[in-house]
Amino acid sequence: MSRILTALQPSGILHIGNYFGAIEPMVSLQSAGNQNLLFMVDYHAITVEQDPHTLRQNILFAAATYLASGIDPEKTILFQQSRVSEHTELAWILNCLVRMGELERMTQYKDKALGKGQSVSVGLFDYPVLMAADILLYDTNIVPVGEDQKQHVELARDLAERFNKKFGETFVVPKPQIRKEGARLMALDDPHKKMSKSATSEKNYLSLMDDEKTVLKKIKAAVTDSEGTIRLSPSRPGIGNLITILSLITKKTPKEIENAYEGKGYGDFKTDLARELTAFLTPLQSKINALLKDPSGLLKILDNGASRAKAMAEKKMIDVRQKIGVTLSS
Ligand code: ADP
Ligand code: TRP
Repeated sequence: MSRILTALQPSGILHIGNYFGAIEPMVSLQSAGNQNLLFMVDYHAITVEQDPHTLRQNILFAAATYLASGIDPEKTILFQQSRVSEHTELAWILNCLVRMGELERMTQYKDKALGKGQSVSVGLFDYPVLMAADILLYDTNIVPVGEDQKQHVELARDLAERFNKKFGETFVVPKPQIRKEGARLMALDDPHKKMSKSATSEKNYLSLMDDEKTVLKKIKAAVTDSEGTIRLSPSRPGIGNLITILSLITKKTPKEIENAYEGKGYGDFKTDLARELTAFLTPLQSKINALLKDPSGLLKILDNGASRAKAMAEKKMIDVRQKIGVTLSS
């Protein structure tokens, strides 16, 4: 049995990149009899400014989205990071093992800190250490994430090995699991950048909550090239990204899609893609809305998840405190 864990920031919208990069892999791993944990990293979210009222809503929205996507709270421990204080406690201990240089190398930090100068928060810099704590606390074997998080999981591996070497075998060394197709959906308005909810323009991403009209508008406006054919090629990231999206939704291979659109142009292809996307999103949206209508039901699921996670985390921290020498009784 493997322990599988992933987490997402509750920062408002979730886009199809998040869905295919992180949520769907977690749903499919559920059936294999593994022990899964999935949580909303609210303490990661506050590394950039958050409005408290909106944050609260976003946490519930994220929980509803996972459940609507097929996360079964019996099989997956679903919870809110801040409810298990051991995450921040372990992060502090790991802070004392990590080196400045290691964090300065992190691509996500460099991207997010760009242009902020000295005003960037220490939390944003330290973000990967809290993530390492999230993972190591639960003896995680596998971390399904999108490509952009690979570097962070590698830091968690390094810190696990460093701790084990210094204090004796304590942490399982985790492995990232990155799906082959769809690990990095690209922005619709710039196929050289990844689709991201922190983008300044809404034309960058397809939100899981976009309605039919918006989907069509965004797909029609998606950047392609002047070649006009529906073919994959490394030099044509725009159309390649759209083919990948259609392939993920219809579960057809990119080759099958290429064959189906032989001799056709962007117009036909984009209309079909928008229709398939809407057919995929509409039932998901109804389920999300139904779950959000019953916040007390959601809170019950999250309470239950938090107490199960807490029990595991408490046990681990007893061992960690003992190993580093702060526990006085033996
Ligand atoms: P964002 O960059 O949109 O803020 P997050 O950093 O919160 O997204 O990522 C949440 C999860 O979704 C992570 O596992 C991440 O790897 C995955 N993910 C994010 N963007 C994409 C993308 N464009 N394609 C595939 N997976 C993605
Ligand atoms: N850093 C991840 C992201 O931005 C979210 C995250 C926090 C995470 N802790 C985690 C992902 C632990 C996997 C495992 O998407």
